[in-house]
Amino acid sequence: MKIISTIDELRDQLRGQLRTAFVPTMGNLHEGHLSLMRLARRHGDPVVASIFVNRLQFGPNEDFDKYPRTFEADVAKLEKEGVYVLFAPTERDLYPEPQEYRVQPPDDLGNILEGEFRPGFFNGVCTVVTKLFSCVQPRVAVFGKKDYQQLMIVRNMARQFALPTEIIGAETFRAEDGLALSSRNGYLSTAERTEAPFLYQTLQYVAEQTRAGHADLAALERDAMERLAARGWQPDYVSIRKRMNLQAPGREEYEAGAPLVVLTAAKLGATRLIDNLEI
Ligand code: PAF
Repeated sequence: MKIISTIDELRDQLRGQLRTAFVPTMGNLHEGHLSLMRLARRHGDPVVASIFVNRLQFGPNEDFDKYPRTFEADVAKLEKEGVYVLFAPTERDLYPEPQEYRVQPPDDLGNILEGEFRPGFFNGVCTVVTKLFSCVQPRVAVFGKKDYQQLMIVRNMARQFALPTEIIGAETFRAEDGLALSSRNGYLSTAERTEAPFLYQTLQYVAEQTRAGHADLAALERDAMERLAARGWQPDYVSIRKRMNLQAPGREEYEAGAPLVVLTAAKLGATRLIDNLEI
């Protein structure tokens, strides 16, 4: 595997490649990321991964500085997966000057759910993804459904800008007890790690109730938030949305069986976890 940090070198290395499959990451790789690499391999060749902790998508009080950086271990994992190139730019390589041109998603998608609680987050994501795509020029790129809203925003962005990159969504990789794998799980204490699967159980509860035709989705969302709070969580949201655009379903749409997804974000101690479940 070639490890490349500069844009020029990356372009030289990938020149002429027409079927590149790309997996952007922020490192601290776990089985969830590796499943994205395997999916990428089924959709293209060569597989290119990136590791870049993107300052633009972190708020001033978020965990940019303490975000886990485990480069050596990540490299070993990617080599095992047969990744051809790892693009691992420094901040100066990717942002040699302040990144003043930004890619701003529309408010009705970028400022809801995660975007409401993490202002500027999707602007940072769209900007870095656009720049990484410009560097790698992939034919396909793989994003996990764990970050459901991110996947939808990137997919819409690629469509609206007519980018020559197909966006592929990968199923969420879960631990045996149901907890979605995430680099931030590493922040959990032992007691919190034992409690953490309750977030997914809450999503399963909401999904079951919704499938059973629960009469009042807003009340169901409140109920789920209360269940989390009763066990010491601080939920930001539990929200049932239409899969097609992440807007809340109207009663008629719900009754007509519009495909739905329930999304949540909640803090357990100091760690904020997100998860979702298609209904
Ligand atoms: O999902 C992530 O790890 C990041 O948001 C991404 C897509 C690599 C952009 O920094």
